[in-house]
Amino acid sequence: MNKIEPLKTKDSVQITEVSSKETFGLQTDIKIPKFNDASEYCPKIDTNYVFDESTTIAILLGLKFNKRVFLQGLHGTGKSSHIEQVCARLNWPCIRINLDSHVSRIDLIGKDAIVLKDNKQVTEFQEGILPWAFQNNVSLVFDEYDAGRPDVMFVIQRILEAEGKLTLLDQSKVLSPHPYFRLFATANTVGLGDTSGIYHGTNQINQGQMDRWNIVAKLNYLDEEKEIEIISKKVSASSEEKKIIASMVQNGKFNKKRF
Ligand SMILES: Nc1ncnc2c1ncn2[C@@H]1O[C@H](COP(=O)(O)OP(=O)(O)O)[C@@H](O)[C@H]1O
Ligand SMILES: [Mg+2]
Repeated sequence: MNKIEPLKTKDSVQITEVSSKETFGLQTDIKIPKFNDASEYCPKIDTNYVFDESTTIAILLGLKFNKRVFLQGLHGTGKSSHIEQVCARLNWPCIRINLDSHVSRIDLIGKDAIVLKDNKQVTEFQEGILPWAFQNNVSLVFDEYDAGRPDVMFVIQRILEAEGKLTLLDQSKVLSPHPYFRLFATANTVGLGDTSGIYHGTNQINQGQMDRWNIVAKLNYLDEEKEIEIISKKVSASSEEKKIIASMVQNGKFNKKRF
């Protein structure tokens, strides 16, 4: 992780307030912070992205009021991309981590590594992604949160509280969060394990930990009109083509019902 440089110090981030209605085409109009400058960690804008009202509001409230937001829903419904696309439009650096069962505590926190210093091999602590993100204006997204290993989940529990500090025992260091550090998670289940039989490999989430997520929002398949709108925008469809898309979406809906 030593290649990732600090983004911005607390004093050097420049922010302008923008309207959610104008920026995301929402009905609800709230003022939200937008960074003046984009960094290399800001996701690319997908100009055809269609924002779902309640999911976008949940993410925006998380960003504005420093709340931890958990998005749950079926696969491919736009959970991860919603967070990414909201961040993209606000120039908010956003890092996604797939919390699979191989992600370990030292991947997140850091480890002692042998490095070269003045042509000598020395052992030095190298910070993992968590301390780095924690001290920067970064939205950290844990995807597939319900696939994470229980011991790893407890590492995250420390920073779920908004003012929670991160203690690096290995280094006897206590870190404070950057005022614009934010935390998100996405998952297919609500922390009760796989009740549907289609999400093999997911774990139950400790309820004490689940409770620490301030906002839990659900995002399942969008309604027909939205789906037609998304596909039409993606392929710049003519009115004739829109009719074909509409029948494809209707067919898809029929199949989803059977599924
Ligand atoms: N509202 C949307 N507008 C445009 N594209 C979307 C939307 N929702 C999902 N997609 C597209 O569908 C794909 C799957 O979305 P993703 O966010 O990865 O789903 P999830 O994280 O819920 O499994 C992505 O390529 C994404 O760009
Ligand atoms: Mg995802």
